[in-house]
This record gives sequence, structure tokens and C-alpha cells, in this order.
Amino acid sequence: MTGRVAIVTGASSGIGEAIATAFAAEGAQVVLGGRRAEELERVKSAIAAAGGTALAVPGDVRSENDILALFAATMQAYGRLDVLVNNAGVTAAKPIEEMSLEYWNDIVATNLTSAFLASREAIKIMKTQDPQGGRIISMGSISQKTPRPESLGYTATKHALQGLTHQLTRDGRNYGVVASIIHPGSTLSGFTMRTSGRTKAGAGATPQQYVMAAQDVARIALLMATLPPEVNLFEATILPNQMRSFIDRG
Ligand SMILES: NC(=O)c1ccc[n+]([C@@H]2O[C@H](COP(=O)([O-])OP(=O)(O)OC[C@H]3O[C@@H](n4cnc5c(N)ncnc54)[C@H](OP(=O)(O)O)[C@@H]3O)[C@@H](O)[C@H]2O)c1
Repeated sequence: MTGRVAIVTGASSGIGEAIATAFAAEGAQVVLGGRRAEELERVKSAIAAAGGTALAVPGDVRSENDILALFAATMQAYGRLDVLVNNAGVTAAKPIEEMSLEYWNDIVATNLTSAFLASREAIKIMKTQDPQGGRIISMGSISQKTPRPESLGYTATKHALQGLTHQLTRDGRNYGVVASIIHPGSTLSGFTMRTSGRTKAGAGATPQQYVMAAQDVARIALLMATLPPEVNLFEATILPNQMRSFIDRG
């Protein structure tokens, strides 16, 4: 990753933080997106303390202006973009009959429209820079394989990211842009800490409650980002082996 520039959205905690940290450890100049400025500064300081380079650009992915500012800051600081990771996202569960249009629109804006806007801005840069091209990695979910109960907004947006990745892969061939998607199962993150109270990755009370470390998922993103530009690890599903999922109908 040395000499390469990467934007990671949602880098203030969890999987995004782990990806940004892993990219920086391999020599990338990393741009950190997310709303919580103090958390971005914490991640940036940790990267710097380990000898890496990072730039924190606080912003909300639901705002087109904030996304434009993220890309403008990246170009101003580093002058090119090699990898975009569309990682920012929220989980949301509610019966459909209780979902307001506002609630739906908010999930779509955070999980899907953000990836459209960021990918659009990335492609404008990747298409015209020299050397041309780059990679766009999006964070799907095991919910793209099999849904959790009453998670329509989450499941639908993660399916849509699969479609976005397909289309970006097809069209990106014309200008060296390679798109991939990662579908993680249970991973320790800000989200899992808030909802399950878990504070450590690894074994839980039962084998089914094993939670992956965010660093496990980051290894996949790093592999996707560092393959030869002619090669695409298009899709990766990574999950605890004992996790009940589409692999188990029992
Ligand atoms: N953990 C899992 O088990 C799991 C499994 C499958 C998929 N995923 C996916 O992994 C991705 C990362 O989630 P996580 O599990 O690592 O949870 P997390 O620790 O809560 O991270 C979510 C990240 O998204 C950012 N974000 C959320 N809304 C945003 C907004 N409006 N504008 C800018 N940034 C925003 C958050 O930053 P701020 O709060 O600072 O804005 C945070 O950095 C998500 O796309 C999630 O769907 C997670």
C-alpha cells in the first residue's frame, strides 16, 4: 500500500477503524471519514504513533456537501485516490408497519446513497488520474445472504450494495476501477458493543456466540486492495464458523 491513498468512511470505530489502521500499517496514506471528530482524532493519533499517515475529515455521509468535502480534502492533501472503502453504515430493526418514510430514507441515505455519492466522486478522480484506476470496496453484510428478523431497511440496502458493486465492476473495466464487496458476520464493533454489551472479540457463552475481531475483516479488505490491478476478489463472505446463517437451515 506504500504510496497509495485510501479513503475509509466510518473509520471512527469498529470495522472501518480496523481497515484504516491495517492500510496505514502497510504504508497507505489514509483519509478517515465519520461524524465523531474526537474518535477520528483518536484513530489518527494511533496511526501516527505506529508510524503511519492519516488525515481526519469529519462529516456526515448523508450530506452530499460533506462527501464532496471529504474528497476535496483528500485531493488537497494527497493529490490522488487509489482505494475507497464504503464502510459507513447503520443497522436498524423495526417491523415494517412501524417504519416511517423518514426512518426508511435515513437508512437508505446512510447505507446506500452514501456509497453512490462516494463512488461517483472516487470514479471522477480515478478515471482522470495518472496512473489511472483504483479500487472501490463496499461493506455489505451477511444480511445480504440471509436476513435478520424485521430488518428490511438494513437487508434491502445491503442487497443494493451488491448491485452497486456489480455495476461498478462492469463499468469500471473501462477505466481501471475494480469493485469488491465484503459480507461480514458478527464482528466486534461500536455497533455490537452497543447492542450486545460484548467488549471482547472471540468466544461467547456458546460456540454460536463467537464474535470476530474487526481486524479479521480488515485482512480481507487489505487482500482485496493489494491484489494485482488485473485481479478482483469480487466478493468475500467472512463469518464465525459456528454462526447460524445461510449455511444452516436446521
Ligand atoms: N459488526 C458487525 O457484526 C457487522 C456485520 C456485517 C456488516 N457490518 C457493517 O460494517 C460497517 C461498519 O459497522 P461496524 O459494525 O464497524 O459498526 P460501528 O463501529 O458502529 O461503525 C459504524 C461506522 O459508520 C459511521 N457512520 C454511521 N453513520 C454515519 C453517518 N451518517 N455519517 C458518517 N459516518 C457514519 C460511524 O461513524 P460516526 O458514528 O462517527 O459517524 C462508524 O465509524 C457497517 O456498514 C455495517 O453494516 C457490520
